[in-house]
Amino acid sequence: DRGRYRHFMEKEIHEQPEAIATTLNAHLDGTRICPSLDPELLGRVRAIHILACGTSYHAGLVARYWIERLARVPVSVEIASEYRYREPAIPEDTLLIAISQSGETADTLAALERAEHAGYLSTLGICNVPESALTRQCENVLMTRAGLEIGVASTKAFTTQLTVLLLFAAALAKAREADPGMIRQVLEDLGQASQQAREVLAMDGEVQQVAEEIASKAHALFLGRGPEYPIAMEGALKLKEISYIHAEAYAAGELKHGPLALVDDTLPVIVPASSNPLLTKLISNLQEVRARGGMLYVFADRGVSLAPAPGIRMIRVPAPHSIISPIIQVLPLQFLAYHVGVLKGTDVDQPRNLAKSVTVE
Ligand code: F6R
Repeated sequence: DRGRYRHFMEKEIHEQPEAIATTLNAHLDGTRICPSLDPELLGRVRAIHILACGTSYHAGLVARYWIERLARVPVSVEIASEYRYREPAIPEDTLLIAISQSGETADTLAALERAEHAGYLSTLGICNVPESALTRQCENVLMTRAGLEIGVASTKAFTTQLTVLLLFAAALAKAREADPGMIRQVLEDLGQASQQAREVLAMDGEVQQVAEEIASKAHALFLGRGPEYPIAMEGALKLKEISYIHAEAYAAGELKHGPLALVDDTLPVIVPASSNPLLTKLISNLQEVRARGGMLYVFADRGVSLAPAPGIRMIRVPAPHSIISPIIQVLPLQFLAYHVGVLKGTDVDQPRNLAKSVTVE
């Protein structure tokens, strides 16, 4: 039932504050983080391989920043369809994490199956569907509590995957005796996520104005740095699948290595910008875009100050910078794709050629 919403995607975007809160509650028990995971197992983990496809892969890419920063465990993230046909070298005591909303994605399951005989320490599935093939195949499971996701484009499954992955990073850090103050801060920030998401979702009208400008374009470029780079990738994926506009994402530092040649006054450049230590570098990348006439749309959190200038449109994301920024920054990009799709009259809940569950290779 879509209720008062026009599409499931719109409804599911709006369900995120609650889905995040429910997911958090499911994996916190007083001071215990992810109590279903054995702390002794976590203490043994010396490396992590993450496998997933599509949006779930982007969640894995964000998690790499979190896990390495908080728990100091090396992480590699790979698309399952690539991994399954490689001969990966697996260091001792490596934990395999498979991320899948549906738990039925053929490539992710096949990768997991191959890995079972490859000498991993253990497997952990992150999944939204209980009783799916993935939850049956993994030794450990952390469920996302997004509720049923019907729109083909993943929205609330993604932000709840991020919620679980940040909790997991904190649990791993704790098992490895990281600074308790740092872990407390992560939990405090996560505790703000649901409320911040609610405030960001209230900026829908402003995003709609941006959508009106983007809807007539043939191409769009997304740029990000640090944990906002995978968010730029996710923004580009959402835009192309919902609106059929060709969109590409680059790490902002890669501009000079090729994509800058594309930039002219017909190319919108969309940037999730967080006031993290890389902000000054990001801003100098943006100036390179401006110098070539590219129109900039910067989704900036409260700490970003950019002088107003022609060709730069600042969309203020009403949230401070913190470790949860990627969870918050993706929300306006989901809205953007949604509104562009609606303006173009595409079938946003059922984009052409796509299926919700990719059960064949
Ligand atoms: C994009 C999208 C897909 C899925 C991908 C993996 O919006 O929904 O890219 O993320 O097909 O699906 P799961 O997570 O079910 O394995």
